[in-house]
Amino acid sequence: MAELVVALDYPEAAPALDMARRLAGTVPWVKVGLELFTAEGPALVAALKDLGFKVFLDLKFLDIPNTVRGAVRSAARLGADMVNIHVLGGARMAEAALEGRDAGTGPGATRPLLLGVTVLTSMADADLPVDYPGGAGALALELARRARGYYLDGVVCSGLEAARIKAACGTDFRCLTPGIRPAGGSDDQRRTVTPAQAVAAGADYLVAGRPVTQAPDPVGAARELLRDMGAGN
Ligand code: C5P
Repeated sequence: MAELVVALDYPEAAPALDMARRLAGTVPWVKVGLELFTAEGPALVAALKDLGFKVFLDLKFLDIPNTVRGAVRSAARLGADMVNIHVLGGARMAEAALEGRDAGTGPGATRPLLLGVTVLTSMADADLPVDYPGGAGALALELARRARGYYLDGVVCSGLEAARIKAACGTDFRCLTPGIRPAGGSDDQRRTVTPAQAVAAGADYLVAGRPVTQAPDPVGAARELLRDMGAGN
């Protein structure tokens, strides 16, 4: 059964915690990204854990292996349940990330899932900085194959390519899909799908930010997404 992750993209802790308190009991996961983590750091992750959420720390690490090893170790020590790196960092960086995860996971604690970012869901073919035969979807599939070879737990991808990634990499290889849009709408996201499409494609985790956090009734919007996912209440 796919799980919903709500992206808490806020500039400071107060509105993020306010939204989290409203969503507690309805949504199992929250995502802390660059904006919120840069402002509020580890204390905010701890506060969200205290509210009972699983936390996806979405910092998309891409650096030299030694630096990424340390960053993932720190994220694991924080108690993040899921962290991610860019697949573009290559095999040695991924190996270092896996080492960092093991080093940061305390005895008896569950290791965080380690996912690889393929191609951002905000990017259409025309946004790729280099030409790639087949465009963004084909590049995402190739990067997912690499991520599988690096022994990552799965990838961040669009729902548009999740089915092909599952077919190529195996059903146990996790797909987390941002760019979830209930019906149309236009913003900076490009490779979007509806919740039902993402689930039909085999996605394991669906990330939605603004469709929930900017809705007049965020809890109602989250329930609607869960219904569309077939996980509904
Ligand atoms: O508001 P929206 O639903 O577009 O939020 C999507 C979230 O997922 C944002 O926090 C964004 O940073 C993140 N994300 C993404 N595409 C990726 C990886 C992460 O949109 N490939």
